Amino acid sequence: MTTSLDTSHAIDTENESQTKPLQHNNPNVLHDRREHHDWLSCDQLKEHWYVACTKRELERKKVWPAKILGLGIVVFHSNDNSIGALIDQCVHRGTALSAGKLNDGCITCPYHGWRYNKEGRVTHVPSIDGSSPPDKPHRFSQRSFPVKEAYGLVWVFLGDSSPENKSLFEMPFYKKSGWNNYYMCSRFKGSVSALAQNFMDVPHTVFVHNKIFRKSPDKLMKTSVDFTPHSVEVEYEDTEDSIGMMPWLTNPDKQPLVHTDQFHSPNITRCDYHWGDKSGFVITSQITPESANVSRVYTLISYKLPIPSIIARLLRPLIHLYTRIVLEQDISIIKVNRRGIENAPGLRTHSVQSDLVHIGIERLIDASKTGVAVDASKLGRKPMNFNL
Ligand code: FES
Ligand SMILES: [Fe+2]
Repeated sequence: MTTSLDTSHAIDTENESQTKPLQHNNPNVLHDRREHHDWLSCDQLKEHWYVACTKRELERKKVWPAKILGLGIVVFHSNDNSIGALIDQCVHRGTALSAGKLNDGCITCPYHGWRYNKEGRVTHVPSIDGSSPPDKPHRFSQRSFPVKEAYGLVWVFLGDSSPENKSLFEMPFYKKSGWNNYYMCSRFKGSVSALAQNFMDVPHTVFVHNKIFRKSPDKLMKTSVDFTPHSVEVEYEDTEDSIGMMPWLTNPDKQPLVHTDQFHSPNITRCDYHWGDKSGFVITSQITPESANVSRVYTLISYKLPIPSIIARLLRPLIHLYTRIVLEQDISIIKVNRRGIENAPGLRTHSVQSDLVHIGIERLIDASKTGVAVDASKLGRKPMNFNL
């Protein structure tokens, strides 16, 4: 991916300055930046597709300032309806391109008007090209990244390996017949690990979301947890657990609940609640690490109700409001969690059996950072029981 940019420092014509190439124009810019970003020292983490924005966010704004693993990325609509993603920095004097506008499918720097196509090539330099863009692009360029559109999301790959070898996570029930979907976009003051643990954590629901999401049934919750090389998957045995605000709507026939939670390393959680074939509620979270302790989360809510689909669709604003309230409670508790962690450095956490999932997630994220697989002795199926 980087080889095509190896000539990016080349001085183009006699008109262009012979100044020394800037460090940021180096195709290995990520390596240069790692010295200053602890998060980017996590080499292997960038070898994944991350969500930069939703398609709707990009359609609305045309130019989107994403931040992934500490690096600003400008995402923009190009002419042929394709999408470009470049390091958010003009190679002329460093201005953030995301503050610029689109011209002919190119992003134009707001400072002196240099234009970039989606491959990152400079196509126009007003001070030497005048009003007519040149036939041939200049040889200056900024690093571009592979982009994919799928499931209503725009994904970017920052890695050095082949992106084709990494598949996108299939967003469950997205636009599937009988199902309704919507995305919620949120920013959390927390790491990917803290958020994934929160989204998979049942014990907190009776404190943080008391009576809104789940009230304490005062009983033993039995589960089995599968620890695999790339996932943690939990099966809950309580078929009578009640979640949500409207069981009369989600489960009027009193069908047994099938509840499973999954974490897919390094940044995705999926929580499924199904009542028979006719009703289900699935929460899938794509966590994009903006930096070590700030994350942007794209939550897909997929739901199916045992009522005519037109009425299910009409209920969407109500369900959206409810899920937003629950999400805001998580945003608040994660902020408080972060405040405590930062208060006294060197926290040593203490765990009980209900934290097995947390420990498994931490292990997998560490493995994703280092590229060293989790020890086989830590894999397999284990029981996890706790009081709720
Ligand atoms: S800084 Fe971007 S055109 Fe000069
Ligand atoms: Fe929560």
